[in-house]
Amino acid sequence: MQDLNKLWKIFNEKYTDTGLIKGAFSAPGRVNLIGEHTDYNEGFVLPMAIEKKIIMLGQLRNDRLVQVFDLVYKTKIKFSLDALTPLKKDTWANYLMGVMDEIQKAGHPLQGANLIFRSDIPQKAGLSSSAALEVVTALTMAKLNLLEIKPLEMAHLCRRAENNFVGVACGIMDQYVSCLGQKNYALFIDCRSNDYELIPFKDHNFQIVICNSKVQRRLIDSEYNKRREECKIAAEFFNHKLKREIRALRDVTIDECKKYQRQLPEVIARRAKHVILENYRVQAGVQALREENFLAFGQLMVESHQSLKEDYEVSCAELDLLVNLALKQKGVLGARMTGAGFGGCTVNLIEKNYIGAFKESIKNKYKKITGIIPDIYLTPPAEGAKVLELKGDKA
Ligand code: GLA
Repeated sequence: MQDLNKLWKIFNEKYTDTGLIKGAFSAPGRVNLIGEHTDYNEGFVLPMAIEKKIIMLGQLRNDRLVQVFDLVYKTKIKFSLDALTPLKKDTWANYLMGVMDEIQKAGHPLQGANLIFRSDIPQKAGLSSSAALEVVTALTMAKLNLLEIKPLEMAHLCRRAENNFVGVACGIMDQYVSCLGQKNYALFIDCRSNDYELIPFKDHNFQIVICNSKVQRRLIDSEYNKRREECKIAAEFFNHKLKREIRALRDVTIDECKKYQRQLPEVIARRAKHVILENYRVQAGVQALREENFLAFGQLMVESHQSLKEDYEVSCAELDLLVNLALKQKGVLGARMTGAGFGGCTVNLIEKNYIGAFKESIKNKYKKITGIIPDIYLTPPAEGAKVLELKGDKA
């Protein structure tokens, strides 16, 4: 609350009061526990929201102008709701503009707003700072304009903003978990039906620890799109080969993959193998968590990393190093890269008593080899997007 008071103070220094409704909102980043590069193959994922988040404060205006101040980078931008086109400079504003564009396209009327936001989610680290920015913008604009937008609709709207306006062909995972995450639960999402289930993730003995390699994701957009394309080729092959409809790699079984893999170009076969097995790992992982079998869950994380490294080829030397160092530490049940890959973070499942020693050892060893001090974050599954406070009525 004290923090919020400080933010309101800054807000009041930046903008003159319009006398209209105002409020404070937040949306978290996420870490994906298992199920990587499966969402756009209509498969399964199991992310959780993290405690790192974006807080946005806003007040409605009586016109169509939006003013935004980013407190981390100290940059300000103004635009009109009647002229929403992607920017080449200050590209961060595209996430906000894209969301507002999609809200309007969905038929919801908007008025302008004065906004400030502050983020503690590291950028380009695979923890979904972009999805959090989209979701917090959607929530802020919806609440200030007194619109009824349900969390699910909000998640889809934010994803469309990223696909259509920002131009990144991401899947649904990040926006979903930022909207729907809950304290002490991971979110099991079926990315075909869009059904989801909250899976309890609370144990007094184990904790999720994130290691940031501080290597910024390289080549991410081009390689991401390339993987999507390769998966599409594989799905088309199976659709042709098998005597039933294969809409996506989600529909192919492990046995079918084994049987036909030699008929596919070698690289495409490996991509397909990763996706098909990863879908099984997510389902097995959910079962393991239901049975509180953390040992089994950790093993699946290890297999997932191996597959992302060897078959899907989206890891990098620094992520592999973090995983290898982690697996040599006492009390570590599992470790893997998380998010799109090519840099960013690893996610680790560790016995609580060993976390202190883990942090110290990983920091020293990783620094010795790479010259970089990694950041290490401890986080239980956190809450999804929420209203922090709402004051006044729409005039
Ligand atoms: C990024 C995308 C997600 C997902 C992951 C890989 O985070 O935004 O939709 O595809 O990569 O699992």
